[in-house]
Amino acid sequence: MKLSSLVGLVAAVGTATAQSTPNAVVRDADTGLTFTSNFQLYKADGRGITFRVAIPESAESYTSYDVVVQAIVPNDVGWAGLSWGGSMPRVPLLLAWRGSSNNVILSGRLANGYIAPQPSNIAQYTLIPAGTKSNATHWQYTALCRGCSAWVQTNGAYRYLSPRGGNRLAFAYSPNRPFDVNNPSSSIPIHEVHGYWSHDFAAARNRDFESIVARLTS
Ligand code: HEM
Repeated sequence: MKLSSLVGLVAAVGTATAQSTPNAVVRDADTGLTFTSNFQLYKADGRGITFRVAIPESAESYTSYDVVVQAIVPNDVGWAGLSWGGSMPRVPLLLAWRGSSNNVILSGRLANGYIAPQPSNIAQYTLIPAGTKSNATHWQYTALCRGCSAWVQTNGAYRYLSPRGGNRLAFAYSPNRPFDVNNPSSSIPIHEVHGYWSHDFAAARNRDFESIVARLTS
């Protein structure tokens, strides 16, 4: 089933909730950061993954700036993927799943086409423990990313995400876990659902971003 039909179905049965408000502004008590938040459906029964972004107020257009990403993921998700370039090939991808002791595994990847993405340091992630947790229904990660807001394309041109407006992001979901669950370089099964949205970065700007992130990662 295509995601568009999933959205229609959920709206029709009236299960869409406030969490699905596009680009909701969320102040996160665990980290002290303000995020813009988007909920992406992957099941017709209303299950979805929440993706959040926080950036520095000082971020300038056409520069590389740090990004903090947070995702809230239902426990039935095998792996959750986020594409910073809004498509699959040749852009930084962030894969996340749960390890065998309920810990979160993050894996930066790059795909050369519509083939399995390989481990890549085109972007580098640092897990933020204060924003990483799990409970009976969901798990959540928060990570600092360097290299997610700007990167060099294979033709040598730069791609930049705007700190002053919306950027097209994409996600992918698989119900099945990676094959070697404790290994960040594990091969992974293909996704069942993918989708796109415009993520507002303008309202994700944080005045004290640098000092908060320094505290969270020290
Ligand atoms: C084993 C791993 C993977 C395989 C074999 C794979 C394969 C594919 C294939 C064959 C398509 C085209 C489907 C179609 O046109 O209907 C596709 C599309 C897509 N994939 Fe993957 N994929 C993998 C992992 C990922 C990951 C980790 C992401 C991360 C977000 C991702 C994001 C997307 C997106 C957004 C699309 C839609 C087309 C686009 O916008 O580029 N994929 N994938």
